[in-house]
Formats: sequence, structure tokens, C-alpha cells
Amino acid sequence: MQTRELGRTGQYVSALGLGCMSMASDYAYGPSDAGEAVATLHRALDLGVTLWDTADVYGFGANEELLRQVLVPNRKSIFLATKFGFVADGAGGTRLDVRPERIAAACDASLQRLGIDTIDLYYAHRIDPAVPVEEMVGAMAALVQAGKVRYLGLSEASAASLRRAEATHPIAALQSEYSLFTRDVEADVLPACHELGVSLVAFSPLGRGLLTTAGPQLAAQDLRRSMPRFSEELADANAPLVASLRAVATEKGISVAQLALAWLLAKDEHLIPIPGTKRLRYLEENAAAANVRLTAVDQHRIATLLAAHPVVGARYNEGGLKLVNR
Ligand SMILES: NC(=O)c1ccc[n+]([C@@H]2O[C@H](COP(=O)([O-])OP(=O)(O)OC[C@H]3O[C@@H](n4cnc5c(N)ncnc54)[C@H](OP(=O)(O)O)[C@@H]3O)[C@@H](O)[C@H]2O)c1
Repeated sequence: MQTRELGRTGQYVSALGLGCMSMASDYAYGPSDAGEAVATLHRALDLGVTLWDTADVYGFGANEELLRQVLVPNRKSIFLATKFGFVADGAGGTRLDVRPERIAAACDASLQRLGIDTIDLYYAHRIDPAVPVEEMVGAMAALVQAGKVRYLGLSEASAASLRRAEATHPIAALQSEYSLFTRDVEADVLPACHELGVSLVAFSPLGRGLLTTAGPQLAAQDLRRSMPRFSEELADANAPLVASLRAVATEKGISVAQLALAWLLAKDEHLIPIPGTKRLRYLEENAAAANVRLTAVDQHRIATLLAAHPVVGARYNEGGLKLVNR
């Protein structure tokens, strides 16, 4: 696996990370099997896919606990990223709480569940307009000083918030949704990351599965049911784009997932996609995308298809969009 520098930290991580969100929470992306998830983590280690992405809210701690089994005995080989910010709302859902006074406790709880002393990359899961970015990042910086965290990150932050954060403490990575399906970061977030030397970590790089296999036939508890693009009508409306991209991939002898990941990898030398899977075969397919090169002709064909088939429908429902800091 090739490596990429995380921002301008001098720290190199796998060019493709592993999104672990659905590994231990049936309500994320359908039923998960702990045995296959653990086998997938071991295979990721073999393949050099060592940037692992989780969050305290995934499975309300269960996801970090699952990772612990493979992380602890292989600590030096894994670059572990987790996040704080979403807490249980008492009614089965979540609410955002990034107040500075609770960040140290959130970090300690993650460290305990993960079974480690230091988190490599610690993200604020969202920006809360009611909490000054400087105060939130100040509390995160105290964790770096205490040796509990190595690098800081933000998720779904605007370019303006990133600049304010960066003025408080160096930010290594900004995590945001970015894929052939969701390209709004291209307007100002990606240019700001490039200018400031911050890695854009592209989450949901496969459109949460819409580019590959997922459609409206989701399990009852699958969280994508709340997302407009997974409705039957919008999935149908976007199907021609998916079919056209698949045709380009087939001609190149690769899968559409590999095409989507190679397209992202070519966007910026510090950009790191983190495809999510709980399955060994998808992990292997995705890891191989690091070796795919898109020619200028491929890039032109893809750009033409994107222009011809604008994606229909929002990526989040209204509540989810309100939490995006843009
Ligand atoms: N910061 C944030 O707010 C935020 C939000 C969302 C996600 N994330 C992070 O980003 C990671 C990745 O995003 P994501 O999981 O939302 O979306 P994604 O990577 O775009 O897509 C994941 C979906 O695609 C399927 N898949 C993966 N590889 C495939 C392949 N080669 N062929 C066919 N299908 C494939 C997965 O199936 P299986 O589930 O069956 O394996 C899953 O349904 C997450 O795991 C999480 O760590 C962060």
C-alpha cells in the first residue's frame, strides 16, 4: 500500500484508509458480523491499510471496543483516528455536544474503550455554531499537550472554521464527504485544505454504497433510510450516472468502486479516501484501487458524465444538513 503524508505533519499514513463505522452497529449499514469484521481488520493490516477510522458514537462505543481486539496487539502498525461530539439523546438518537468542558472526558472514554494510551488523530465530529471554534480546538490542543492525542482533525467544517481552528492549533486533517456523488467540497474546502497543508480525508467515497451495490432495499434499521438519495425515486433518478460510470470502469477492467477511489486519489496528493466496509472481499477490492491510474481521457470521460448527469437529491435529511458547517 502506498502512503501519503497526513497534512504537512511529516507523518505518513496509508493512501487509502479503512472506514470502520458499520463494523459493530447493525443500525449503521445493515447487519454486521463481528467475526468477519475482525477478519477484515486483520486483512487490512496485511494489506497495509493502516489508517483506521472510527468514532465514539459508532455503536455508542461498541465500534471502538471491537477495534480494540486487533488494535492493542498491533498498536505500532495502526494509525488510529476517532472522533467525539455526538452523544446519546436519551431517545435512541444522538445530539451534538462539543463543549470544551466535556472533551477531556470523551477522550478518556475513547482511550479506555480502545485500550490504548494515545489517539493518533482526534476529530471533532461536527462544528457547533454555538461553541467558538477556538475554544473547542483549545480544549483539543490540551489533549495533545497531555500526550493523549497526536494530531487534531475536524469533520464537516467550513473553510472559515478550518482557518479559525488552524490559527489556534495546527490541524492535520479535515474529514468531509467527498465522492463522485458529493462534490461540494471542491468549491472552497478542498482549496483551503490545499493552501493550509491539511489533508482532506474523504468519507463516504463510494456514496455510502450508492455507487456500488446499495439501493433503496435496505434493512429496516439501516441509517441510510433517512437519507433522501436512498429513496426509490431518487435512486432511480441517479441510476443512469451509476450505470455510465460502471461502463467506464468495466472498459478499464476495474470495478466502479476502484474507479471512484482512483478518481479521489488523483484530486490532491494529501487527499486520503476512507472507504467503509465490514467485508473482506470489498476491502481487498478497495485496497487495489491505490494502484489504478486514470488517464487524461478517463478523467475527461468522467467529468463529461458528471456534467451530463447532475446528482439528484440531498445527501442528508434536513436535520443532518443543519449539522454540516457550510
Ligand atoms: N465524519 C463523518 O461524519 C462520517 C460520516 C460517514 C462516514 N464516516 C466514515 O467514513 C467511512 C466510509 O464512509 P461510509 O461507510 O459512510 O461510505 P462508503 O465508504 O462510501 O460506502 C460504504 C458502503 O459501500 C459498501 N462497499 C464498500 N466497498 C465496496 C465494494 N468494493 N463494492 C461494493 N460495495 C462496497 C459497503 O458495504 P458493506 O457495509 O456491506 O461492507 C457499505 O455499504 C465510514 O466507515 C466512517 O468511518 C464519517
